[in-house]
Amino acid sequence: MSGAARLRQVTAWDAALLATLHAGAFGADAWSETVFAAQFALPGVFALVHEAGGLVLARVAADEAEILTIGVVEAARGQGVGAALLRATFDAVIAAGAVVLFLEVGVRNAAARRFYARAGFIQVGRRRGYYANGEDALVLRADLVPDSTAPP
Ligand SMILES: CC(C)(COP(=O)(O)OP(=O)(O)OC[C@H]1O[C@@H](n2cnc3c(N)ncnc32)[C@H](O)[C@@H]1OP(=O)(O)O)[C@@H](O)C(=O)NCCC(=O)NCCS
Repeated sequence: MSGAARLRQVTAWDAALLATLHAGAFGADAWSETVFAAQFALPGVFALVHEAGGLVLARVAADEAEILTIGVVEAARGQGVGAALLRATFDAVIAAGAVVLFLEVGVRNAAARRFYARAGFIQVGRRRGYYANGEDALVLRADLVPDSTAPP
């Protein structure tokens, strides 16, 4: 089972848990507990964790939302955990009034790029040398509501 029952919303109090999960997903590039705690000072930030070992941190600002980070620990990948986190993020930001969801992904992160493509994200930009290692980031966007101006 990887449904919504295995997900819960967490807060700044759970920064240590978020940092542990992030380390399991990103290794040496993981964010610290302090970094996670600081994120919650920003308006509109929320986080979800999946009991199998995954997390997502996202932000809603007016009608736009952004995934700040999403990851699944190595041992739990390929079982729908990431997809469940993404689905729950879509639901949460739509409920908060967002009509579009953005994120950045490393150009060399083929697995994540496929994962986002399957979820309906399209590339809308590129930030050269965005990451500390000099890697470019692709800016991806998913439209959350049908285009009301499109012909039926
Ligand atoms: C990207 C990531 C979050 C995906 O999580 P996951 O739990 O493994 O993904 P899921 O099992 O939910 O897969 C969802 C879909 O993506 C596809 N997918 C996931 N990983 C894939 C891979 N390595 N190669 C090909 N497709 C992949 C799956 O086939 C699935 O598609 P389907 O539902 O049509 O079969 C996970 O691999 C991860 O944490 N990676 C390291 C951290 C990272 O790169 N985060 C994103 C940074 S922007």
